[in-house]
Amino acid sequence: MKTLVAYYSRTGRTRAAALALAKAAEADTQEIVMTGKNAKLGVIKGAWMALRKKPAKIEPLGRLSKYNRIIVVSPVWAGNPPPAVNAFLDCGLGGRQVYAVTVSGSGKAEKHFITAIEKHGGKCAKMWNFRRRGTDEGAWAEDMGKIAEELKD
Ligand SMILES: Cc1cc2nc3c(=O)[nH]c(=O)nc-3n(C[C@H](O)[C@H](O)[C@H](O)COP(=O)(O)O)c2cc1C
Repeated sequence: MKTLVAYYSRTGRTRAAALALAKAAEADTQEIVMTGKNAKLGVIKGAWMALRKKPAKIEPLGRLSKYNRIIVVSPVWAGNPPPAVNAFLDCGLGGRQVYAVTVSGSGKAEKHFITAIEKHGGKCAKMWNFRRRGTDEGAWAEDMGKIAEELKD
């Protein structure tokens, strides 16, 4: 199964998790990068947009159609997917199997992530939440290795 790890990260924690997962699952990666005036999105406006389920402007994505499984790795913003992740989901999931890994400060956002994925035509097969600080990819190897093991065909 061809797998894509798509991730957004503002301060690097989620990036570390995503790269460790991609390595463990032998998946391709797609970083979701905000662009235009959203590139410097502040925390307050960002939280406001997340709360209202708004998408941000993002850089063009690679071809998604070649992947039958997508793992979205994302921080939690105001209990929701960040605007950059909303923009990624807007690109269409077309009935594909979608998994989500969230890296949050303190809370989970399961319901809102699943709703967002399903609203965009994906099927959320499973979701994991981690509360961890730090940007060391190596620190994620064990947890991401377990997820990769679960995802084996
Ligand atoms: C705008 C904003 C809103 C946030 N809202 C939440 C929240 O509602 N719940 C939570 O647990 N963490 C929240 N956080 C914390 C992030 O989810 C957490 O620090 C995450 O690990 C950051 O990932 P990153 O380093 O990849 O950007 C928020 C962070 C930001 C910047």
